[in-house]
Amino acid sequence: MAVIAHKCPNIQITIVDINDEKIKAWNSDNLPVYEPGLKEIVEECRGKNLFFSTDMDSAIQEADIIFISVNTPTKTYGYGAGKSADLRFVESCARRIGEVAQSDKIIVEKSTLPVRTAESIRDILEVTSNNCQFQVLSNPEFLAEGTAIQDLENPDRVLIGGEQTPEGLQAIETLVSVYAHWVPREKIITTNLWSSELSKLTANAFLAQRISSINAISSLCEATDADITEVAKAIGSDTRIGNRFLNSSVGFGGSCFQKDILNLVYLCESYGLNEVARYWEQVVLMNDHQKHRFSRKMVSTLFNTIADKKIAIFGFAFKKDTNDTRESPAIAVCQDLLDEQAELAIYDPKVQAHQIYKDLNISDPEAEAITLCNDPYEAAKDAHAIAILTEWDAFKDLDYAKIYASMKKPAFLFDGRNIVDLEGLRAIGFDAFGIGKPNPKRNNMIVS
Ligand code: UGA
Repeated sequence: MAVIAHKCPNIQITIVDINDEKIKAWNSDNLPVYEPGLKEIVEECRGKNLFFSTDMDSAIQEADIIFISVNTPTKTYGYGAGKSADLRFVESCARRIGEVAQSDKIIVEKSTLPVRTAESIRDILEVTSNNCQFQVLSNPEFLAEGTAIQDLENPDRVLIGGEQTPEGLQAIETLVSVYAHWVPREKIITTNLWSSELSKLTANAFLAQRISSINAISSLCEATDADITEVAKAIGSDTRIGNRFLNSSVGFGGSCFQKDILNLVYLCESYGLNEVARYWEQVVLMNDHQKHRFSRKMVSTLFNTIADKKIAIFGFAFKKDTNDTRESPAIAVCQDLLDEQAELAIYDPKVQAHQIYKDLNISDPEAEAITLCNDPYEAAKDAHAIAILTEWDAFKDLDYAKIYASMKKPAFLFDGRNIVDLEGLRAIGFDAFGIGKPNPKRNNMIVS
């Protein structure tokens, strides 16, 4: 919304939320989300054509277009628990809009939703409203965190789905005209509602599938001394495959991939498409396997015990350039290491302490085997091993000789993101391991 406000000075954007704290933060100098370039845009537009408020009803009444952008977490209870999307926030938005609106409006689904949710939104609006007409559009978001501003300013495509009726097509055109302020028309794809809703889930499923595929091959690389970076380069040069999104890692995280695939799986199951459901579910199972495989490899390499050993964790966010930790592979790995009674010294340049404690279910930080550190050198001091779990650029250029000197020997390093020079580290003295990388000392076991 900040980018729309920035690109369309003639459009007034009001962002409303029931969470007063969040709105206060958006109106302050400390935005609640870290995203490169966002602060500058918000500061430029805030108070001009970008407003943050808790006055929901006025905002509903004044708006011509309403974007529903609430979260749709995986349901934790009842039917579809653990897989389907919890749509209670979407439904309550639709009810509130229906009850409060006094004029016709376009309602845009921005949240990622199961296919045919627009139908439910439309039904709710119809029964709750006072004779107002609503057109429901689907306009899924494809930005990735960390690169959100550039993804929005220069998108591969914008997708808008709507009803194929004269009123629906007119609503689509209205939303097209917003994006056309800066996105070339040929990059604005219009479809029917259901194609648009399904395309969002499918895009994330394909992206996550690529990572699980390359991660599956990474285990085979470790077993055979092939090098995953070389394999990725070799296959990525085929233009049909393409070279992006082939970085093998400790596993994908983020608020979307797992949730959206599980949602897709549930959708398939509810249509009786069990083979299709099992096919996509394997992408998530492979990802879980990759995270635990990493922890198991650490334990087996450190002579099968890490109890009371200090392990330095470099990075906790689910990817670089964000403070977001949702589904971060670091959570699973740290949990495994804590279960093995290791002592963790965690450093992340952006993630706040309370978030790490929350993610690891720690109620009393004093009593737990965790220290949060202000820099990576402090984290590594006297540690038996380092695990790099987020690909922050800063981790590439640390003084690893100094780090090595401060660690217990043998000093192990496990690079879960393949960002450091393993040969260089080995020359310093480290026992260094990457994902899908040959192991020069391969007398030891393969962890499958
Ligand atoms: C993802 C999609 O990329 C966006 O297009 C989509 O809009 C978004 O989900 C969403 O649905 O909201 P995001 O989760 O922010 O974006 O970040 P990604 O760059 O996709 O990374 C996801 C995870 O995969 C991260 O943990 C990342 O480290 C990992 N990853 C990514 C790899 O392990 N290897 C790669 O080659 C790429």
